[in-house]
Formats: sequence, structure tokens, C-alpha cells
Amino acid sequence: VTIHDQKLRRGAGGELHQLASVATPVLTTAQGGPVSDDQNSLRIGPRGPTVLEDFHFREKIFHFDHERIPERVVHARGYGAHGYFETYESLAKYTRADIFQRAGEKTPAFVRFSTVAGNKGSADLARDVRGFAVKLYTQEGNWDIVGNNMPVFFIQDAIKFPDLIHAAKAEPNSDFPQAQTAHDNFWDFISLTPESMHMIMWAMSDRAIPRSLRFMEGFGVHTFRLINANDESTFVKFLWKPKLGLQSVAWNEAVKINGADPDFHRRDLWDAIHAGNFPEWELQLQLFDQAFADSFDFDILDPTKLIPEEVLPPIAVGRLVLDRMPDNFFAETEQVAFMTQNVPPGIDFSNDPLLQGRNFSYLDTQIKRLGSTNFTHLPINAPKCPFHHFQQDGHMAMRNPVGRANYQPNSWDEGPRESPANGFRSFAEVEEGPKARLRSETFADHYSQARQFYISQQPVEQAHIASALTFELSKVQTPVIRERIVSHLLNIDDGLAAKVADALGLKAMPKPADAAVATRRDLAALDSLSILKN
Ligand code: HEM
Repeated sequence: VTIHDQKLRRGAGGELHQLASVATPVLTTAQGGPVSDDQNSLRIGPRGPTVLEDFHFREKIFHFDHERIPERVVHARGYGAHGYFETYESLAKYTRADIFQRAGEKTPAFVRFSTVAGNKGSADLARDVRGFAVKLYTQEGNWDIVGNNMPVFFIQDAIKFPDLIHAAKAEPNSDFPQAQTAHDNFWDFISLTPESMHMIMWAMSDRAIPRSLRFMEGFGVHTFRLINANDESTFVKFLWKPKLGLQSVAWNEAVKINGADPDFHRRDLWDAIHAGNFPEWELQLQLFDQAFADSFDFDILDPTKLIPEEVLPPIAVGRLVLDRMPDNFFAETEQVAFMTQNVPPGIDFSNDPLLQGRNFSYLDTQIKRLGSTNFTHLPINAPKCPFHHFQQDGHMAMRNPVGRANYQPNSWDEGPRESPANGFRSFAEVEEGPKARLRSETFADHYSQARQFYISQQPVEQAHIASALTFELSKVQTPVIRERIVSHLLNIDDGLAAKVADALGLKAMPKPADAAVATRRDLAALDSLSILKN
């Protein structure tokens, strides 16, 4: 049913044009019933009460009342775009993943950039880590590289994630937003968690206030594995390198931009893509074997460490181009569900304890946030390759098994079957050891790479790190927390520690932090296990 109406359309310069009479669809209820009057509710007389019978009013208001879904527990504020990944050349030598078999292969992609700590309505230029989550709709199912714009992380074990995030977000009594302000809880946790010091150097650097989402690097952080057709494993780190290079703003610029335009980053991405300036990243891989891994003085399973690119130069294997904004923010950017455990055959996990924990967390959080196990039925999350399984029913099920069989094996020759040759197989790593809450001694050095990062910075960048630390710690009310942080800085760089201590007005320089407290506790636990004593 259509009626005819006059319509206005906005031109390229923002001017309004009156369009000729066009066919306009008739407004309906969600059930499809045509609506006669959407301006007035049904009532008795012009000044009388509204009647319960007004089903159009009830449906409209009920639906509105239910519009909000929980925001992400972290990375709540984000902005996404569609694009594609193009493979440069076959990597069959290393992986049997279909996406890396053919040069020139184009795979649809969706990327969501985010800040971590702020809520959904916070400002874009907050000093924070940026999420860099990539969903690749491969011919063998969705592959999610759920990364950040920094190559390391704050903690070594996923069991500490709720503590880290609680300390970083609003305090339970005051509920102050933390996007812009430092506070005691966060720095208290950091000061008691020396493994975070490398990441703190990155977070206090210019990397934490990017000029634009288009000028950021991305990192898969963890060590993953590539598995080839002979089931041989090569360790891999994933890196995204922006074609435009890296650019940041200075802190005083960030503060002004946040005040003038809290949507600065999303507007920049929106404008660039609409203007045809499609941002592009190269996917680079650091590939290495067990012998190379054993040659490092840190553990490649430790997510607070990176492999220096001078030591292991990355190789470029493809490019990611973002060329289309979502049609609807909620349907796509808000409902997209990234999960580290989404990997195709030929990509596998390492034992990084942070990655192992994430592989559990993301499915759980998506079911909670999106409200149903059927979140893969949403178009943004559905694979773009053929898929067949026997999962059925549940809230909002839009796909159910067809026919008689909803199980297998079955005698009706109905439905899909496993494929030992082509399906996902885990790398058959041999594992042994005591079952206990342990941390490896090889995870113990918390300062060397923090020092390397600081030293690698230009003088002006080093000055920014010192002023960022000073600014943040100046907001901390509890003197001992400030001192503890300075005691960690003494293990990184004396000059940096002195600058911050001086700027904070510390009366005396604290002693350097005891580097091995946390690890010693774990080793003591290990030592007390009878299995090791025998
Ligand atoms: C969300 C990255 C560690 C739990 C995200 C997102 C990114 C990300 C980019 C946002 C995804 C999006 O845009 O929708 C990382 C990185 C980590 C890390 C790089 C460390 C290297 C962890 C850990 C846990 C965790 C250790 C829990 C054990 C979550 C949860 C969400 C999330 C619950 C919200 C997901 C949602 O509601 O969509 N993470 N994360 N993350 N992350 Fe992580």
C-alpha cells in the first residue's frame, strides 16, 4: 500500500531539495497492520484517558522500552566499517587455512575499533588502549583477530582480567567515569602488578592518543600457530600496519578535541570512507619455530612481551581495506560479536594463559550481551560460507534443521557429517605437568622490555611519557601508591623515575621494587608440590 507525499533530500553541500511526488510506503505496526494515526493515542474524548486497547501505542512503546542492550563490559565505545582482505600470495607452506592459499583472494571483512575503559558515551580521545578487532568471513568460517593497537597486555593470566578492569573502570561507590581521569584504584592495582609495567609504558606513550583510527597499528598480541597440510606448526604473531603511518596527538590537543568533538575519531572514519579515502592496513606476520622461541630470554607465551621487529622482521602477507560504512550502527557495529576462538583450520592457539582464558570468555559474554545463543543468526555474525549443523531452537532462532534428522549419526542419510580431512584439528602438542595454580619462571622479567620500549622512544616521546605519568599520578591521592609506581620506574629508567618523582614532589626516592615478588610466590607453591619433591 502506498500514498503519495512530498519529500526533501539533502544535497552534497547540505542544501535541501524538494523532490517530485514519490511513492512512500505506508507506516505499519511490527505485525504489518497499516497505521491510520501515529500522532495521537486512542482515548475517550479529546481530554479523556488513554485506553488499554490501543495496541499500536502499546507495541510502539514496549519496543522502545526494550531498545537498549547491555553495553560491552569492556570496549563499550566503538566504531566499525566493512571492507575486504586481499591475500598477496599463497602461504600453503605454513598454513592450510583457505584464506592464505591463493594470491589475490578477496575475503569480506568487518572491523571494529574501540576504546577499552570508557562507557559507550565516552569521548574518543581518552588516553586508553584501542581495540582493533577484525572479522574475516573466510570460506572456512569466520576468523576473528581480536587485537589492540598495542602489542602487549597488562596481565599474564586471564584470571586477573576482572581485577584489572574493575580497577580501571568506575569505582563502585562513586561511579565516576574513568575515561579521562586517573584514580587510586587503577594505579593501586598497577603498582601491585609489576607484570603490567611494559604495557604501562605503551599506555602512557603517544600510542594511547591516536590522531585517527586510520593512523593506528593493530596487534594480535598473543603467539598463535599456523598449521600446514602436514600438520606442522609454525608460531606466528599478527600485526596490522597502517598505510598512512602512525600518528598521535599531544595530550593538550586530546583534551581540547574531546571537549570540542567527543566523536572526533568516528567522524574522521565516517568522513574518510564517504570521501573515498579508504584506509588500508597491511597484515604482517612474524613467523618462528620452537628453536627460535627457545633462543629468547623471555617466554613467547607471555603476553606482556613482544618479539622485536629488528630481531624477527615481519613479512607482509595481505592488505585490509575498509571501504563501506555500516547501514545501521546498531545492527552491525553494536551487534557484531568477536571471539578469539573463531579460527579456521590451519590457525591454532598457543598456551598463552591470557589467550586460553579469552577463548572461554568471549562466547560467554556474547550470549549475555546479545541475549541468545542464536547471535550467529544475526547477519553481521553469520558466516558467509556454506554452514550446516544440528543446533536448533532457543530465543529468536531464525534457522532450524530442515527435515527429520536433527542428530548424527542417523540412518536417514540426512544432514551434514564431519570431515576428518578438512575439519579443524588442534595441533597435537604433548602436555604434561602438575595440575596446580602456577606461573612459569620464564614469565618473571617484568622490566627489560619496558626499558627497551622507553629507550626506543625519541626524546620528545620520552618527555610525553614522563608528563603522562606525572599527570596521571598527580590524580592519585594515596602517597604510597605514587611511591610504588616510582619504585617500578626505577627498574625501567633512572632518569624517568627521577623526573616523575621530582614532578610529583616526592620527598625521598623510594627503593627500586623487588622484581620477583609475584613470581617467587608462585615458585614457592610449585616447590611445595610433592610431585616435584619426589
Ligand atoms: C572485548 C581485545 C583480553 C574479555 C574486546 C574487544 C577487543 C578486545 C578488541 C572489543 C571487540 C569489539 O570491538 O567488539 C583484547 C585484547 C586482549 C584482551 C587484545 C589481550 C591481549 C581480554 C581478556 C578477557 C577479555 C583476558 C577475559 C578473560 C573481553 C570481553 C569483551 C572484550 C568480555 C567484551 C566483548 C563483547 O561484549 O563484545 N577485547 N582483550 N579480553 N574482551 Fe578482550
